[in-house]
Amino acid sequence: MSLAFSARCLAGRTIQQVRGICRSAAVQSGGSLFVHRDSAENNLNTPFDFTPENYKRIEVIVGNYPAEHKAAAVIPVLDLAQRQHGWLPISAMNKVAELLKIPKMRVYEVATFYTMYNRQPMGKYHIQVCTTTPCMLCNSDSIVEALKKKLGIKLGETTPDKMFTVTEVECLGACVNAPMVQINDNYYEDLTAKDMDEIIDDLKAGKVPKPGPRNERFSCEPAGGLTSLTEPPTGPGFGVRADL
Ligand code: FES
Repeated sequence: MSLAFSARCLAGRTIQQVRGICRSAAVQSGGSLFVHRDSAENNLNTPFDFTPENYKRIEVIVGNYPAEHKAAAVIPVLDLAQRQHGWLPISAMNKVAELLKIPKMRVYEVATFYTMYNRQPMGKYHIQVCTTTPCMLCNSDSIVEALKKKLGIKLGETTPDKMFTVTEVECLGACVNAPMVQINDNYYEDLTAKDMDEIIDDLKAGKVPKPGPRNERFSCEPAGGLTSLTEPPTGPGFGVRADL
């Protein structure tokens, strides 16, 4: 397409009107995933040190790897730092580099590559809404809308009471139970907007809602009930010739 033609096509229309194909929110792109900018709560002086219990855990984690490959522990040790602090300030990354005796840049590379590391303050509950194709086809839009309405925030934002952060994510590997969300370490699946409301109410009340499918099915069994393997399994020797 020539530049002149593109300009004619765009004329008089907003970016949203011409976007069309890509629907994902850009809240986590645009550099925020990869670039660190000092802020009041995230800078080199942000207080961070592991607790004595976590120092013991780190000893165990590092012990899983050969002495000359301590760097391999960077992912679980970063995860531990995030679990302790609630998110991952740059001072925690530097601490991990110091403990594993690796250049800070090696830690930054890992922390900025994996979206599981949150490098900005998060709410107590991090709600990750999957909006990839299978979830979208099962109406993940209604889940996003329910969350926005219930919490009064947009995707990528945190509630003023620091209880909830909502982010839009790519496939979380539970497509057969779409639509679904991950809240901290738990998956909530086969959701409707009403389920989402109830889950938020439970969390606000200090309860941990039961993870898993909300439509009564067991795990990821067929939504319409079992169609095979409906009888108890046969015992050893089944189908073997009697004379053997
Ligand atoms: S598409 Fe949502 S879990 Fe895979």
